[in-house]
Amino acid sequence: LHFHVISIFPEMITQASSHGVVGQAIQDGKVRLQTLNPRQFSHGVHQAVDDRPFGGGDGMVMTPEPLTESVALIKKQITDKNRKARVIYLSARGRPLTDVLVQELSKESDLILICGRYGGVDQRVLSQTDAQEISIGDYVLSGGELGALVIIDAVSRGVSGVLGNALSPVEESFRRGLLEHPQFTRPRSFQGLEVPAILLSGDHQKIKNWQRSLAILTTAENRPDLLGSSELSAEEVREALAVFQKMSQAERSACGLTSDSRAMTVLNEYLKAQTK
Ligand SMILES: C[S@@+](CC[C@H](N)C(=O)[O-])C[C@H]1O[C@@H](n2cnc3c(N)ncnc32)[C@H](O)[C@@H]1O
Repeated sequence: LHFHVISIFPEMITQASSHGVVGQAIQDGKVRLQTLNPRQFSHGVHQAVDDRPFGGGDGMVMTPEPLTESVALIKKQITDKNRKARVIYLSARGRPLTDVLVQELSKESDLILICGRYGGVDQRVLSQTDAQEISIGDYVLSGGELGALVIIDAVSRGVSGVLGNALSPVEESFRRGLLEHPQFTRPRSFQGLEVPAILLSGDHQKIKNWQRSLAILTTAENRPDLLGSSELSAEEVREALAVFQKMSQAERSACGLTSDSRAMTVLNEYLKAQTK
């Protein structure tokens, strides 16, 4: 997968993408990253890419020429007819970025990411480049670069070979409509909190079942809104409730199940709704 990022701060993208999983994926050639500064298409003396908004208002708006010319150049550079670029404008107004959308994007060959600055971009950039607006959350950032980096990071993880076998994305949060179960490593006892005994039992099937129940409980506690799309069976929910009831207060606390009854209430309601 090839990311093409259009930004007036290209170093933000290249520097932040040179670390960890993404940095390694770029080094290994599993993903490619190219940046393009739209200022190179600004014809003014000061290389301005913004202007005052028609209709008045505070702030400036990015002018259409440098951005559309940047997209056109990138598309021209993609000479392989089997590759088709999908254009994305990072935008607070956009479709929210979710795991489903991330998986969809990881199947593309080329993603052109337009990073806005100032008060945003001239609307005609979007119609001329057929850009899809994507938001990384319900808040306003100063620029699209952080959004582009979020897309590059999350989408790269879905590209074949990037994570290797050791870190299977299938087990991660959101993949099965659930959050991940709590994780533990050494030491067994840390500031009075013990690693749950079952994880030390060596019984792989029991551990797997327990982790599934804890994923259900964690989701019920932290993000009950996700349960609707998880297609849990009544049996799995009952099993999670039974696990919760057997846990001591200390175990619940070690597992991040801090509120006494939230997970239970949510799961009991889930069961009630299922039997209606
Ligand atoms: C200061 S913001 C412009 C906000 C715009 N006036 C509005 O109210 O929606 C500048 C740039 O940051 C980016 N941006 C801001 N919030 C974002 C978000 N939640 N997700 C993705 N990009 C965002 C966009 O590229 C935008 O052009």
